[in-house]
Amino acid sequence: MEDETVESRNQARLKILELANMISVPMSLNAAVRLKVPDAIWSGGSNAPLSAAQILTEIRPFPSGGDAENLQRILRMLASYGVFEEHVVGTGERRYSLTDVGRTLVTDADGLSYADYVLQHHQDELVRAWPLVHEAVLDPMVEPFARANGEPAYSFYGKRPQMNKLMQSAMSGVSVPFMKAILDGGYNGFAGVKRLVDVGGSAGDCLRMIMQKHPRVTEGINFDLPEVVAKAATIPGVTHVGGDMFQSIPFGDAIFMKWILTTWTDDECKLIMENCFKALPAGGKLIASEPVLPKLSDDSNRTRALLEGDIFVITIYRAKGKHRTEEEFRQLGRSAGFPYFRALYIDYFYTLLEFQK
Ligand SMILES: C[S@@+](CC[C@H](N)C(=O)[O-])C[C@H]1O[C@@H](n2cnc3c(N)ncnc32)[C@H](O)[C@@H]1O
Repeated sequence: MEDETVESRNQARLKILELANMISVPMSLNAAVRLKVPDAIWSGGSNAPLSAAQILTEIRPFPSGGDAENLQRILRMLASYGVFEEHVVGTGERRYSLTDVGRTLVTDADGLSYADYVLQHHQDELVRAWPLVHEAVLDPMVEPFARANGEPAYSFYGKRPQMNKLMQSAMSGVSVPFMKAILDGGYNGFAGVKRLVDVGGSAGDCLRMIMQKHPRVTEGINFDLPEVVAKAATIPGVTHVGGDMFQSIPFGDAIFMKWILTTWTDDECKLIMENCFKALPAGGKLIASEPVLPKLSDDSNRTRALLEGDIFVITIYRAKGKHRTEEEFRQLGRSAGFPYFRALYIDYFYTLLEFQK
């Protein structure tokens, strides 16, 4: 009995030290991305295990140099989180290849990966907000990002072209593989739609992919803030429209939105959804893809990714914006006038939510 107590106390002390040092994980991930380590290891698909010194030569060719030992320390720690695989060769030298997780950080033929999402999250202005998370408990009227930087995130990004650009490429890097998964996964919610509006569509990638897969969707409206659509590239069949979803939303046979409701309060979501309701014909659908929280908490990767994202929302976007449960979304839809609702779990992170008029 006493042994068990000693064991559980030891485990507890270990666990709290792991948690207290956890900042090393995202910051090292950010460092590996900044140094372009994943692209260096992937090297056109070979993914051959490389030593830190070899990686350093790839990313900083002679005579630039650098500290291979420090790079190895970062790689070793990230290997324990499954980003890299560590291979110890006969001489005792450590070499690293990419796991499937690490592979998501490799730039693809379209110039996309999850790397920009990592970089977007770790910009100085966002990092500055994190020590203020407790303020969101004491006073939820101002989110930590606005407290740290003097204004809310979207308007802050809007005035800084570099941040706006990184936000767009971060969104593209995450959204393109998601859209591929749902379109290849047989989702048929776009059947019968000719004019489709994407609210908060950023660069327009989601619309482009939907229209490629469903040629009967002939008119795409990519609706986002004026400064965002001003930077969006031309896409055949897609009109970029600048505006404010809290004012009005262009009409369409159906409305799509991804990662929008999450960053707003219940009252703000109701307003956005009421504007969608007004822009749809009878029977028309609002198709939202949002993270949906499970009812119960557990330590699975999915639940953790969703709960961690929830704290990101509190910190950066709205102290009362939130990841919601399926039932909370159903209620939101009802409050905005949508009588029909269904949730489809195709992707592990984003759930498809259909609200029908
Ligand atoms: C988290 S991003 C999602 C982007 C895209 N839907 C995706 O998932 O890749 C949220 C988007 O909402 C846009 N947005 C924020 N406020 C808006 C507003 N008032 N009206 C229209 N769009 C807005 C942002 O510019 C941004 O592109």
